[in-house]
Amino acid sequence: MRIEAVPGDITRQQVDAIVNAANSSLLGGGGVDGAIHRAAGPRLLADCRRVRREKYPAGLPTGDAVATGAGDLAARAVIHTVGPVHAQHPDDGSDLLASCHRRCLEVAEELALQSIAFPAISCGAYGWRATEAAPIAIEAVRRYAAECPQSTIEVVRFVLLDHDARRAFASALE
Ligand code: APR
Repeated sequence: MRIEAVPGDITRQQVDAIVNAANSSLLGGGGVDGAIHRAAGPRLLADCRRVRREKYPAGLPTGDAVATGAGDLAARAVIHTVGPVHAQHPDDGSDLLASCHRRCLEVAEELALQSIAFPAISCGAYGWRATEAAPIAIEAVRRYAAECPQSTIEVVRFVLLDHDARRAFASALE
């Protein structure tokens, strides 16, 4: 499993799965959530509404992940996850952020996908500093790779829009 960090817009990535930093409603938002919904088109929201109805009537819990179709995006799936809001999880924030990454990889594995792109989950509206989040994210992926050597996932790519995140993930990868 190759882990890489690249600058760019996650909606332009040619990967099997694009991870969305969603909120528990799964009904869209700003930031990367807004960008993904804009690029994927209305079918993505329709898929999210169905997932809410059929699987998560109370909303997707923080730290969990669920896949939908990808609408007009080149990807095969969008995997939605809800990161911890920094201010709301002074104690278990790191575990929840690690869980977001592990659950997204598990969901991608269930779909036998080979490549997945992550944004810097919780590093925008949810208030995490990228310097805190990046080591947690990278460590969670490395642990998954060590525990699941037969995984179908060959490439895990962190796609980073802002400068702080780029620096933080690049140094966490070293
Ligand atoms: N490609 C890659 N990264 C992006 C993009 C994009 N097109 N747009 C934004 N980002 C980056 C931000 O720069 C930030 O580093 O994604 C990271 C996560 O920021 P947010 O999108 O604000 O996500 P988060 O902090 O997890 O907050 C989630 O915001 O948009 C709402 O509905 C969402 O309520 C949820 C909350």
